[in-house]
Amino acid sequence: MTEKEIGISSTIIAWYQIHKRDLPWRETSDPYHIWISEIILQQTRVAQGLEYYKHFISRFPDIMTLASATEDEVLKYWQGLGYYSRARNLRTAAISVANRFGGEFPKDYKAILSLKGIGEYTASAIVSFAWDMPYPVLDGNVYRVLSRLYAIDLPIGTTESKKVFTELATCLMDKQRAGLYNQAIMEFGALQCIPHNPDCQTCPLSEKCEAYVSGQTNKFPAKKHSSKQHVRFFNYIHIIYKETTYLLRRENNDIWKGLYEFPLIETENAVNFHQLEELESFNKMFQGTKLLDIKPQLENLKHQLSHQTIYASFYKIHIATPLQGNGKYQPVNSADLELFPVSKLTDIYIDKFIRNLSE
Ligand code: ADE
Repeated sequence: MTEKEIGISSTIIAWYQIHKRDLPWRETSDPYHIWISEIILQQTRVAQGLEYYKHFISRFPDIMTLASATEDEVLKYWQGLGYYSRARNLRTAAISVANRFGGEFPKDYKAILSLKGIGEYTASAIVSFAWDMPYPVLDGNVYRVLSRLYAIDLPIGTTESKKVFTELATCLMDKQRAGLYNQAIMEFGALQCIPHNPDCQTCPLSEKCEAYVSGQTNKFPAKKHSSKQHVRFFNYIHIIYKETTYLLRRENNDIWKGLYEFPLIETENAVNFHQLEELESFNKMFQGTKLLDIKPQLENLKHQLSHQTIYASFYKIHIATPLQGNGKYQPVNSADLELFPVSKLTDIYIDKFIRNLSE
């Protein structure tokens, strides 16, 4: 965990201790009670869920009582919540705990996951809330909080986003206080980092929140792209000062993380060079130096990735004095370009316009 992650995690926990709602499933470490509450809360909001929970637990206070009830009666206690297979699965899983584990809720993530109706989210909630096992919960609230904090432009529900968000959630989690941390981030999403027009003025994380800082809170979490491909426009600048060129390492949770590339200006639409040089980001890049010679090399080259279509342009620009940019750009001897890992797209450019010329 970096300083930033420790800061985020402890801020969320501190926020939770002030703002949390008192809810009965937070007062217990009984995995059975936690399980019931989580399944009910998958069906309804906290206010209504609370009544169902109390009613259900008063009739079925432990797993053996549930296992020995008739399906009809369990359904009766579920009536009005909808999605009745959840109630049937509860009873089936209770019977299975009775038969396979002697009526004792298994204290093992994999065993819990094998029970009917329990998926990764529910299993993580149970083991972390009951026993502080370090499994991150990833529900809609958590996705929203993380996608905003790190400006992650990946729609929920894809294999790729699941991987990225799981890694991030695991990394942020306070492993010593996994249950508390998981409750806290879910509550933070439910009350503070709400879906529409969150009150960022009162948010203790606003300064660390990449979505807030860039004024794009409502852009996250990213909407699912129907079946349409995500289309992006990349304008790369191959900048040359004597023997030096400049690279940047991609750091964000986006494509090509960790790879190097020429300074990039991403735009919402296709732009020509005239439009590009009008942009503030372009002028900022070249602040304090003079452009000597500008050559468009490739324009609107279509580059297809599995979930994104990129239209890329490359411009070669010679400059009169070294690029400044406060250390943002890494000066590299042009002859050493081959030492840096680059994307296929950047390699296409290097191959066409640099490699062949230097041979
Ligand atoms: N929604 C899902 N699980 C919850 C929990 N444990 N507390 C509050 N809301 C929730």
